[in-house]
Amino acid sequence: MTERRHLVLVGLMGAGKTTVGERCAQLLDRAFVDTDDLVVVQAGMPVDEIWRTGGEARFRELECQAVADVCASPEPLVIATGGGAVLDPDSRSRLRAAGTVVWLRAPAAVLAARVGAGATRPLLAGDPERSLDRLAQLRRETYAAVADHVVDTEGLDPDAVAGAVVALLAGPVGS
Ligand code: S3P
Repeated sequence: MTERRHLVLVGLMGAGKTTVGERCAQLLDRAFVDTDDLVVVQAGMPVDEIWRTGGEARFRELECQAVADVCASPEPLVIATGGGAVLDPDSRSRLRAAGTVVWLRAPAAVLAARVGAGATRPLLAGDPERSLDRLAQLRRETYAAVADHVVDTEGLDPDAVAGAVVALLAGPVGS
């Protein structure tokens, strides 16, 4: 089994992990998986309902399992992670061991504009830009630690970001 066979996208909500991940999967002719989708299927309810009924702890438990499952796939995948999937140290190790990790980064104002005013994500209730700014401060170092590469997405459309991500796969780690 090839080590580090997956392409893993990390970053805050609104970074474009799902949209860009789907396009990367097309470009690479691989299957695409979103850990949030796995969690939803496993729980049989949407993310905000998991959060409401079981709290963040339950959501994170399911998310850790989803990360473990997807990392174990022998087939090379494109994996979009939920924004907080890297918070768990075991998940971080798994993602790094199983894939090339790319951090899609953008300023909080850009992320907030992308998620929109009607954001249903539990962590963005109230003022999304403020929440994203706070999460960026809290998580910046974690994303930097887990990522092999960073792509600054401000001003780029999803196709351009996907092209930049796929180009990184061919180049040396750390660019
Ligand atoms: C979260 C990000 C969300 C989802 C949940 C928690 C986070 O995923 O997993 O609402 O902690 O950043 P996206 O980043 O795909 O929106």
